[in-house]
Amino acid sequence: MIMLRDKVVFVTGGSSGIGKATALEFAKHGAHLVLADIDIAGGEDTAEHLRKLGTEAIFVRTDVSQESDVAEAIALVITKFGRLDMAFNNAGIIHRGGLEDCSEKEWDMVMNVNLKGIWLCMKHEVPHMLRQGGGVIVNTASTYGLIGAIGVSSYVASKHGIIGLTKAAALEYGPRNIRVNAICPSATRTPLLLLDGDKEVMWAERHPLGRVAMPGEIAQAVVWLCSDAASFVTGLALPVDGGFLSQ
Ligand SMILES: NC(=O)c1ccc[n+]([C@@H]2O[C@H](COP(=O)([O-])OP(=O)(O)OC[C@H]3O[C@@H](n4cnc5c(N)ncnc54)[C@H](O)[C@@H]3O)[C@@H](O)[C@H]2O)c1
Repeated sequence: MIMLRDKVVFVTGGSSGIGKATALEFAKHGAHLVLADIDIAGGEDTAEHLRKLGTEAIFVRTDVSQESDVAEAIALVITKFGRLDMAFNNAGIIHRGGLEDCSEKEWDMVMNVNLKGIWLCMKHEVPHMLRQGGGVIVNTASTYGLIGAIGVSSYVASKHGIIGLTKAAALEYGPRNIRVNAICPSATRTPLLLLDGDKEVMWAERHPLGRVAMPGEIAQAVVWLCSDAASFVTGLALPVDGGFLSQ
């Protein structure tokens, strides 16, 4: 049984989709949450929902691509709770279009949010975990961090980068009791995937399980990675993919 009572968890991208579902899953196990996102309405709404479940939860408007925002958000975690036990660095965006159609600005935006954002979060999370004697970090990559895909080259590159960064951090901080893993979802029913009826059928057919994932299914894997049930797991890029990568 997973026990996270009174653990303090920081979640980026917590206003929507996988981040929101994972915050809910953490709360169900008794953890307290700090949610960080650029979507203020969604974040406040999620925090309110978590508080109604009986947990302590706050939202802080944070652009993960800006170091000052990330530093302030993590400082708030410490001011409010005095510690940081777990972090789910999950905020992400996608740019769709051919490699030659991607502008420098669009490329930089994807890299800055998806890859630099995770580096910035770890940079500011790790010192508190070291001070406490340990912690756990999960970074959101993607099945597209493990294989190529057409028409989303900046996204694919950023997600491969996240897996490399995760492995490097796992090696660097494993000896000091910080575990760092990546989660690699395939198609999941969130706003990022822009699912309409036809598109969902197309994605479902591409998965051996015959459907896309629900955000809660990714959330359960993240919570498991953060729990003591995964105490010997670090440096892993864990696919939660309905068999997508086995084809
Ligand atoms: N949905 C999928 O099919 C899928 C598959 C694989 C990986 N992922 C990854 O899962 C993660 C979560 O995506 P999702 O599917 O829940 O999508 P989503 O759009 O529902 O959630 C993404 C969240 O990130 C936030 N965000 C965007 N830019 C930000 C920034 N600069 N700073 C802080 N927050 C920011 C958004 O406001 C949003 O709340 C992403 O990293 C995504 O790449 C999603």
